[in-house]
Amino acid sequence: MKNRIISPSLLSANFTRLSEDIKIVEDAGVNRLHLDVMDGHFVPNLTFGPFIINDIRKVTNSHLETHLMIANPRSYFDDYIDAGSDTLIFHFEASDDIITDLKYIQNRGVKAGIAINPDSDYKKLLDYTEFLDYILIMSVFPGFGGQSFIESTLDSMKFLKDNTKNSNILIGVDGGVNLSTIDKVYDTGIDVTIVGSGLYGAKNIKRRYNKLVLNDQ
Ligand code: DX5
Ligand code: ZN
Repeated sequence: MKNRIISPSLLSANFTRLSEDIKIVEDAGVNRLHLDVMDGHFVPNLTFGPFIINDIRKVTNSHLETHLMIANPRSYFDDYIDAGSDTLIFHFEASDDIITDLKYIQNRGVKAGIAINPDSDYKKLLDYTEFLDYILIMSVFPGFGGQSFIESTLDSMKFLKDNTKNSNILIGVDGGVNLSTIDKVYDTGIDVTIVGSGLYGAKNIKRRYNKLVLNDQ
């Protein structure tokens, strides 16, 4: 079995004790963190911006993947790169020039990713594989943690994994991943799962992490 990479979504962490909540998952084995940026326009919810990410950067060496759920993402790339993102992900639905945007991010020395909503045409992503480091398949409609996994997105996972086998593109899955859905998600061959409420909602976060990683053994 290939190692499961879990990228905890800090959206479900306790923001009054964020550095402890980061340390708990890192002690359990995490080296990648998922940061959900929402603007109240592209999605009907508002979270945090570069200021908080800059502070998170100071307390962790983990790979920071920043998921921009914002309109007009290009205007903010520099802010999120300067704040310390290692991978910057914008939405397929929010960009009118995907290749230019991907190249811009890569030219700044940061990995470039596209997130795609459950109802968008995921096959179109194959047009951009040459410029992509990361694909984030949304298995819920973005905006909130704690939503139910949308089963039909399993098809896009299999399709995109099968069709990017000869590349170095990482494929992540975001939304509704928890103890009861994680096995079927990894069965599609994808590389990374984002887990928010399914991890930080647990009484014992470390034990839950171990269960998520080892579920099918
Ligand atoms: C949804 C966010 C997700 C979310 C995942 O809009 O992009 O990253 O925080 O949370 P869970 O795992 O609770 O679905
Ligand atoms: Zn996310």
